[in-house]
Amino acid sequence: MLDKQRMDPAHYREAMSRYAGHVQLVTTVLGNERRGVTITAACSVSDDPATILICLNNSNARNAIFFNSGIFALNALGAHHQALADAFSGKTNLTNEERFATGTFDTLVTGAPVLTDALAAFDCRVTEIKRASTHNIIFGEVVAVHFSETKQALLYMNRDYHTL
Ligand SMILES: Cc1cc2nc3c(=O)[nH]c(=O)nc-3n(C[C@H](O)[C@H](O)[C@H](O)COP(=O)(O)O)c2cc1C
Repeated sequence: MLDKQRMDPAHYREAMSRYAGHVQLVTTVLGNERRGVTITAACSVSDDPATILICLNNSNARNAIFFNSGIFALNALGAHHQALADAFSGKTNLTNEERFATGTFDTLVTGAPVLTDALAAFDCRVTEIKRASTHNIIFGEVVAVHFSETKQALLYMNRDYHTL
């Protein structure tokens, strides 16, 4: 057991690496600028009104578009989306347009880019943003949903991808 005095951020990350998380792509658009970020920190809040939350690093200046646009789409990734997940995590050093070229995108109601073959996609309007140290928690009301037949999901655990 490590108490608060002996636990540093590396211990916290080591413990968190034991978690299995669904890999997702969150996207937004403002004017003619689009952005997507690979995340695992997202979950359902409520089904009535349908609400989800995502957590985005606020020290990355490129994430500011998410705090200003008022809309986002959360796309649950499948086993076949590993290259896309790498692209939108910045791992493969692609330009923004090259990142979006790794998938096929459409829009539903808000105009945020929706991945056409996502396992499920939630098109959201931002209802609240709460700052929590290094991250901003963005709450979104789901205004449209899109889903495919059940397919293998892409997970992240032990610092690597897995499928389920
Ligand atoms: C599996 C995985 C999960 C991630 N989860 C999050 C997350 O929940 N929130 C977040 O802000 N960044 C998360 N990241 C990091 C972002 O994907 C990454 O910092 C960002 O895409 C960098 O984009 P940039 O190169 O355009 O700045 C995650 C990365 C990976 C590979």
